[in-house]
Amino acid sequence: MRAQVAIIGGGPSGLLLSQLLNKAGIATVVLERKGREHVLSRIRAGVLETGAADLLREAGAGTRMDREGVLHDGCHLSSNGRMFHVDFKQACGRQVMVYGQTEVTRDLYEAQDAIGATILHDVEDVVLHDLTGTPHVTFMRNGVAGRIDCDFIAGCDGFHGVSRRAIPEDRRREFEKVYPFGWLGILSRTPPVDAELIYASHDRGFALASMRSAVLSRHYIQVPLTDRPEDWTDEAFWDEFRLRLPPEVAARLVTGPSIEKSIAPLRSFVSEPMRWGKLFLCGDAAHIVPPTGAKGLNLAASDVHYLVEGLRGFYANGQSDGVDAYSDRALARVWQAMRFSWSLTTMMHRFPDASAYDRRMQDTDLAQIERSDTARRLMAENYTGLPY
Ligand code: APR
Ligand code: PHB
Repeated sequence: MRAQVAIIGGGPSGLLLSQLLNKAGIATVVLERKGREHVLSRIRAGVLETGAADLLREAGAGTRMDREGVLHDGCHLSSNGRMFHVDFKQACGRQVMVYGQTEVTRDLYEAQDAIGATILHDVEDVVLHDLTGTPHVTFMRNGVAGRIDCDFIAGCDGFHGVSRRAIPEDRRREFEKVYPFGWLGILSRTPPVDAELIYASHDRGFALASMRSAVLSRHYIQVPLTDRPEDWTDEAFWDEFRLRLPPEVAARLVTGPSIEKSIAPLRSFVSEPMRWGKLFLCGDAAHIVPPTGAKGLNLAASDVHYLVEGLRGFYANGQSDGVDAYSDRALARVWQAMRFSWSLTTMMHRFPDASAYDRRMQDTDLAQIERSDTARRLMAENYTGLPY
């Protein structure tokens, strides 16, 4: 096969990139290891920055989001049961769109089908070739060997993909921080506990009350890395969740059976550069954030924005300055989101090795956000998304 851009990975990064490139008249092929239902079965975060929501609309995949998504003006922060509100709209004039990533992925698949985009599912043994020369990709599918000759390759294959590792190890700089705890998350057909999200810092551990719709809740509690989902009955989860929420919130919590229960580890990770010859990395293939700031999908969106801009310039008038600037431009915004996700995680969680002084710094960080318009504005600008 021949494509201008071969895209490895059919998650949010790969699909959004394919959709925007095809709308710009640039031909792509998406190679996805799993089947579509498997990709759609993944439960992930549900908060979209303004930029990501606008990109989905530009991609022609924003209609259901605008119909079913909910715009939030702010969120609540609580510390050992005492809660206060952070009004993003008042602090920086922006909001966030609450809309599940599973729905985003479903909308992108539908938009891709509508334009007849080429997505090959169930591919195996994807290998990237000749990245600094004339690139091509080989793979196996249903026992048949395949090959795509292309101008460029986009590595959108996530943290465990093959693309990042196609960059010579001695040319990669990796930065990683692993957190000493995980998040136990459940999905339940229960009404959200509040109109907006509640991030709760508590001596028993962090908790987050989120949602997918008016009848679907998504909640998390910080747990030790040694915990497994089967260690937690629904009842044990709800009891612990209540203890970490402000009492007035816990009192109105409606519980129900979990329809999904999983534990995610927390890590901060960046691999530089995000470009090697004709290969560009987007999304989780290049960086991982702890879920605290809900930046994973949003960073994938800004990476895609920068790459589409560069490739449009290349194909429209042969200019390579956009693609040459891609890695530095994307990384500048990635590191800002890395800092925000790390700082919110550090402020809101209980660390096993924390000193009494560390605990005071956490309380003081929270107090600053409650009392200072400047601190609140900095949080609001980062949470709703820095400009592209
Ligand atoms: N060949 C083909 N496809 C692959 C390969 C491979 N070798 N390895 C992984 N994939 C596919 C995975 O099956 C997955 O569908 O690449 C896709 C990568 O998708 P994500 O991991 O979702 O990463 P990304 O698209 O960058 O989205 C980032 O989604 O998973 C969340 O937390 C993440 O919010 C972040 C956002
Ligand atoms: C979610 O709804 O899954 C979610 C929301 C906000 C976060 C993390 C996860 O910061």
